[in-house]
Amino acid sequence: MKNPMTFPLVVVSNRLPVSFVRDSQGEKVPSLSPGGLVAAVAPSLQGQRAAWVGWDGSDSSDENRLIVDDITLFPVSVSADLRERHYEGYSNTTLWPIFHDVGVSAQFRPEWWDAYRDVNEKFASRAAEVVDEGGIVWVHDYQMMLVPAALRRLRPDVRIGYFHHIPFCEPSILRELPEFAELVAGVSGADIAGFQRDRDSNNFTQAQQDLSGVAGNSKAITYPISLDFEAVSAAASKPRVLEKSMKLRQDWGNPSTVFLGVDRIDYTKGIPERLEAYEMLLTSGAVSADDTVMVQAGSPSRENVSAYQELAARIEGIVARINAQFQSSQGRPAVVYTASNLDRDDMLALFVAADVMVVSSLRDGMNLVAKEFVACDNDESGVLVLSPYTGAADRLVDALIADPTQPGELAAALTEALAMIPSERQRRMRALRDEVKTHDVAWWAGEILGDLASLARKG
Ligand code: G6P
Repeated sequence: MKNPMTFPLVVVSNRLPVSFVRDSQGEKVPSLSPGGLVAAVAPSLQGQRAAWVGWDGSDSSDENRLIVDDITLFPVSVSADLRERHYEGYSNTTLWPIFHDVGVSAQFRPEWWDAYRDVNEKFASRAAEVVDEGGIVWVHDYQMMLVPAALRRLRPDVRIGYFHHIPFCEPSILRELPEFAELVAGVSGADIAGFQRDRDSNNFTQAQQDLSGVAGNSKAITYPISLDFEAVSAAASKPRVLEKSMKLRQDWGNPSTVFLGVDRIDYTKGIPERLEAYEMLLTSGAVSADDTVMVQAGSPSRENVSAYQELAARIEGIVARINAQFQSSQGRPAVVYTASNLDRDDMLALFVAADVMVVSSLRDGMNLVAKEFVACDNDESGVLVLSPYTGAADRLVDALIADPTQPGELAAALTEALAMIPSERQRRMRALRDEVKTHDVAWWAGEILGDLASLARKG
């Protein structure tokens, strides 16, 4: 008989897809948080018996399960000290800069690695307790690279998938890490290791080969992540969103072209490069602050990590410098910058209000913002300027591809976008929308879960 406390499919990620709001009685009520991994994975879990193991974002030591929208969530309690060393330390000050390789140096501390290993062991044990005999465990991202091998030791019967959401750098770079072999062996505990781009899959395969004898043998497969095209497109055409977007354009003085950037405030996103390309156009007189505006919506991220604090200050400095020199005749600054977490409708209204979306990442696993803009552009009038250093660029070939490390090239792409005739905009946007619609998140999750399900059951 099936054990009612175990599940055929278990997802493991650093964060649980949940946030807590207080109800009218002041009780904390959990709800699935929109966006990111949740938006990608949750739709494929609903309707089947699935569980999710992760940290619930609180300091609570309560590990009782929660059931939210059909998904059973198993919170793993992580002490503040452990979390700081695992999340801010090893995950985001060691691994994140190593894998992205954009000139921010990784730092290493033995106590961060200890915490990384401890947290990964904890998550693996929890998953081992709640997965059915022969079930599937799907592990997510660089914060959890040791989980597959740890879980394999505890539960040799289960099928394990790992998905790496960020770039996987060349093995020669990863070798800077003293824990190179353990990390690669950790992922190699998975039957299938999934990546965003072929380049990432190839780098991982190479790293695995370099360690032959140490690591196991995961099969590396490329599965580019996506979003729920129909849901995003429908949400962007809600009257409330359309009204908000018209109001935004009015607030900006109805310029003929709205350029938009939307990112977590992260040094991989190329936010200074984007602002400076726009500044270059203002300075040369190719555009004016009357005719155009650059709207940059940044969401604060990893604010306890010093590289992020430095970047936030640098962006503010650039915005201040540009706006001191350039405003519209009504006094609206050339760059409208916000650094706050917007609610979903406000975010969608920005996408709808924009004419030209500028994605200028220096390195990005996928960049779902590019796909969100495409899904929101129901009237097919927008232009996507896209960095070749994003996973999205592999398939969104009808975007204007511009290298953000070449300021002249990015500025030229902005001018080209501005001047593009409506029929060409429509041709390109239609092709982009077809691509995102065909390869949506259901396709992505279906491919991975299908491949995992077709593996022979063990034991
Ligand atoms: C990237 C990573 C995710 C991470 C997200 C937000 O997309 O691939 O694993 O959750 O950034 O970062 P945060 O540090 O807030 O979890």
